[in-house]
Amino acid sequence: MSTNHDVSAKAAKYLELEDQFGAHNYHPIPVVLEKGEGVYLYDVDGKKYFDFLSGYSAVNQGHCHPAIVKTLQEQAAKLTLTSRAFHNNLLGEYEAYITKYFGYDKVLPMNTGVEGGETAIKLARRWGYNVKGIAENQARIIFAEGNFWGRTLAAISSSTDPSSFKGFGPYMPGFGLVPYNDLAALENELKDANVAAFMVEPIQGEAGVVLPDDGYLKGVRDLCTKYNVLFIADEIQTGLARTGKMLACDHENVRPDILILGKALSGGTLPISAVLADNIVMMQIKPGEHGSTYGGNPLACAVAMKSLEVLKTEKMAENAEAMGQLLRKELEQLNSPLIKLVRGRGLLNAIVIDHKDPEVSWELCLHLRDLGLLAKPTHGDKIRFAPPLIITEAQIKEAVAIIGAALKKLS
Ligand SMILES: Cc1ncc(COP(=O)(O)O)c(C=O)c1O
Repeated sequence: MSTNHDVSAKAAKYLELEDQFGAHNYHPIPVVLEKGEGVYLYDVDGKKYFDFLSGYSAVNQGHCHPAIVKTLQEQAAKLTLTSRAFHNNLLGEYEAYITKYFGYDKVLPMNTGVEGGETAIKLARRWGYNVKGIAENQARIIFAEGNFWGRTLAAISSSTDPSSFKGFGPYMPGFGLVPYNDLAALENELKDANVAAFMVEPIQGEAGVVLPDDGYLKGVRDLCTKYNVLFIADEIQTGLARTGKMLACDHENVRPDILILGKALSGGTLPISAVLADNIVMMQIKPGEHGSTYGGNPLACAVAMKSLEVLKTEKMAENAEAMGQLLRKELEQLNSPLIKLVRGRGLLNAIVIDHKDPEVSWELCLHLRDLGLLAKPTHGDKIRFAPPLIITEAQIKEAVAIIGAALKKLS
């Protein structure tokens, strides 16, 4: 690949700074952004791009959503953090709001998505010991192969991706794996009376938007009920209207026992996550046994309520459903020999690149960048297309024209 994709001298200075002073734990597309508005991002040279990643689905409501930013600014000027050593006037209101919104007895507020996952697992282990009667330290949590739920030691201990776990051992005991989308394998594991929970993404995001067969989530629900195992849904990427319904589980009308949310809970403004469950699970954790300095801070409470509110008032799930269908149709109509597959639900989509050179996906993303659209490959041959949920029909068409032009540059 010999195309010249150099960045401007101005942008190069920012890249050099990061290279010299930052850890090299990411490999970003070379573009330096300084402004976001709706579905668009702007770089330091003023160039405008479609954002087709949305901060890994954290910016569902669009960049700098005016109502969310207004709430953020007003609350930031009033009270931001009390810690949970004291009460604040917004925590209870937020807890009432989000539990009613999703239909659970209680919520446990955290910050990042991975903390939500850790919290869910701690809750499940406690429930396993106190309610299911598993012997001390024997509880097992089952995960699906190809999962991604973050970078803590527990998260990488359940990972099947060597770039996540290799060289970071020893790993967390008490975890098991089954193939994704395989109910027979799951049933086999759940027969073990020491299993407390099965934690799964309704659609595997980082794995490249891998959709299970219709009926899988319903099957998971039934098996978990049958074997008295908690169903933990990691909806950190799929939830909050991204897939065309408020939750991806809603596509099959199933209710997980523990629901984990993050990312778009703040519209991309703050790290806010939440774990929702009923009393029988949530009340197993007692004062002093779990928490976080920032979890449930008043700034986050105000921002999360507004972020949830605008998802509904601006009908973002409905728009994600309609625009997702249009996006997949338009992508298929490109009839590009480089696209092996278009898949997705709502506005969580991916194309799979058909080329023996694994660098082609990266090269395509550089062409997309040059033409004004930002996306990034995941696992080599897959490129996720997940714009903010406020995208319009005209914008989808314009973006697909850019994708078509970028593909032509490679063929
Ligand atoms: C499904 C899923 N769970 C958990 C996480 C972790 O979230 P965070 O990066 O906020 O810790 C991610 C992040 O991409 C995710 O996609």
